Amino acid sequence: GKGAAMVTAVAYRLAEQSRQIAQILSEFSLTTEQLLEVKQRMKIEIQNGLSESTQDIATVKMLPTFVQSTPDGTEHGDFLALDLGGTNFRVLLVKIRSGKRRSVEMHNKIYAIPLEVMQGTGEELFDHIVHCISDFLDYMGMKNARLPLGFTFSFPCRQTSLDAGILVTWTKGFKATDCEGEDVVGLLRDAIKRREEFDLDVVAVVNDTVGTMMTCAYEEPTCEVGLIAGTGSNACYMEEMKNVEMIEGDEGQMCVNMEWGAFGDNGCLDDIRTEYDRSVDDFSLNPGKQRYEKMISGMYLGEIVRNILIDMTKKGFLFRGQISETLKTRSIFETKFLSQIESDRLALLQVRSILQHLGLDSTCDDSIIVKEVCGTVSRRAAQLCGAGMAAVVDKIRENRGLDHLDVTVGVDGTLYKLHPHFSLIMHQTVKELAPNCNVKFLLSEDGSGKGAALITAVGCRLRQELNS
Ligand code: GLC
Repeated sequence: GKGAAMVTAVAYRLAEQSRQIAQILSEFSLTTEQLLEVKQRMKIEIQNGLSESTQDIATVKMLPTFVQSTPDGTEHGDFLALDLGGTNFRVLLVKIRSGKRRSVEMHNKIYAIPLEVMQGTGEELFDHIVHCISDFLDYMGMKNARLPLGFTFSFPCRQTSLDAGILVTWTKGFKATDCEGEDVVGLLRDAIKRREEFDLDVVAVVNDTVGTMMTCAYEEPTCEVGLIAGTGSNACYMEEMKNVEMIEGDEGQMCVNMEWGAFGDNGCLDDIRTEYDRSVDDFSLNPGKQRYEKMISGMYLGEIVRNILIDMTKKGFLFRGQISETLKTRSIFETKFLSQIESDRLALLQVRSILQHLGLDSTCDDSIIVKEVCGTVSRRAAQLCGAGMAAVVDKIRENRGLDHLDVTVGVDGTLYKLHPHFSLIMHQTVKELAPNCNVKFLLSEDGSGKGAALITAVGCRLRQELNS
């Protein structure tokens, strides 16, 4: 009768709905062949970035860092470090002791950088930074010390020496004016002068990947790769000098900041990007740029999820077809929420309460779908990141002419640390795509700060050697 017909209609509609949901999510699933292809493309871009003839137009810029060795344990002294470009801005005091009682002691303070400062003028940004340093020196009672300083500045910089770096382009959430094309160490020194309150000796500008690698290498000499999977994503590794064509000399090695976030900016990943990736890119601060980063890092995963949820809601599969103001709000799904939603120990009821907390009224069915969307997006991120890393370790292996390479990767970043599955999926992917490499991942404890201090220590030593 009529009742049965209605039941059949509802059942049909539900089946059709889950088919369409599966269809949307299937765009995010990548086969091993596709991932191998991504690895292969990354290898090509690495080569383009290293070669003099292609470096101009290369998207993965492979920037020389002027760091030519990992720490040897003789580093010592007291240093200041700045850490700008991650989840928090911090000022640190790092005391390194060498010899038998090798140790690193750190004090640090976190400061907020208001959005209007991140996206205001360069002068305002650097004045704010120096204001925070001033506060920190007061706090530590060290205004008159004139300590050497290492500046961890986690953006692409074209370096001409350890202590000079021209900002190529802002990435992530930053957009302060009058900085691109400028030497950021110069901008910092100018701001210190403007304040006329204390003097500092800026010795090194350091990318966070490099700081992370150095920190891990201090404990584990086989570490020669650094990886950040956090707000942004990037990697560095020790490359043979003869392959770093932009720098004179063929002996030894130099750490190269890959700036792999820009992978795909020439369109080479377009076949795997979805309409949701394109929409996240279109509405970002830097459309067309950092396309790989926008598929794999914490600042953007939540946005991809939000775009999928909006689409599913429009199609009537979610939230009773009602797009709330909350869902229209950019950046609501931070890494920490995604991590919570995907936690295995969480009951669906708790997923609902997280969504509730964000201002999204969900049914039980909604929360199942949301969790599935999050899982799909973060799985692809971990796999793509793993494919990039597979290209890097294989490159190192080939450089050395080895059939088999043992290597350690120092890692940091909120996504890697907080997310319940990201690290495992990434590790598995590297294993599968680079079977000739045995890759160990070592979590870096406060890589940006400690690493900047270690590099500053080496910089001070080199400077003394030059002067004597
Ligand atoms: C962005 C920056 C890069 C940094 C990474 C991780 O990709 O351009 O320099 O290493 O984020 O913080």
